[in-house]
Amino acid sequence: MIELNGIAKSYGDRTVLRDLTLRVPNGSVVWLSGESGSGKSTVLGLAALLIHPDRGTVLLDGQEYDIRRGRAEARSARGVRVGFMPQSPLLLGELTAVQNVMLAGIQNDRRAARRLLSEVGLKHMVDTRGNLLSGGQQHRVSLARALMNAPANLVVDEPTASLDDENARAVGRLLAAQAEAGRAVLVASHDARVGPFVTDRICLADGAFR
Ligand SMILES: Nc1ncnc2c1ncn2[C@@H]1O[C@H](COP(=O)(O)OP(=O)(O)O)[C@@H](O)[C@H]1O
Ligand SMILES: [Mg+2]
Repeated sequence: MIELNGIAKSYGDRTVLRDLTLRVPNGSVVWLSGESGSGKSTVLGLAALLIHPDRGTVLLDGQEYDIRRGRAEARSARGVRVGFMPQSPLLLGELTAVQNVMLAGIQNDRRAARRLLSEVGLKHMVDTRGNLLSGGQQHRVSLARALMNAPANLVVDEPTASLDDENARAVGRLLAAQAEAGRAVLVASHDARVGPFVTDRICLADGAFR
């Protein structure tokens, strides 16, 4: 479960979040919508323990993380307690799909990486180099990478941007499957095509939800 409580966050004099409270229970996909610049990626960065709030608390599975006061704890939680799929897949083009996934692992576990690639429908592409994969395939490798350490919580930024309808549906189904497996999934998107695959939708505007 992901919980953000009373979060405020500014960049310089630009206030992005004023007083934001959000809860993503296990087994659900919460869709965070809102216009470009409304603060969606900031919310995800907070949940993934990458951004420190000015005020408020971030809890994963009931435990509070403070990335300034508990740096070692936050570092060891990243990828393990919470998986993060960035907007851009950022694969290493010279490495194969399975090598890209393995890089995210705490352990050098090729079998786990292969299994995850099968789960995202890329069993036949495990040994294909990153720069030979299509955009949709790269997104799926990126999802496998976010799942490499079996995180209980998953945070996903604009997973369908730049994908055609078929690939967007495939990614949506994969996210729904993660929730069915018991994870808490938080997805930021301004793409209506994620709608059929989510359990809840919240809209971010003016630093809070409306
Ligand atoms: N590291 C940063 N430094 C300064 N401003 C930032 C930074 N990250 C985001 N912002 C600003 O905060 C606002 C919200 O950004 P973001 O969270 O990326 O929104 P979204 O993902 O909804 O487009 C934007 O105005 C953006 O320019
Ligand atoms: Mg964004």
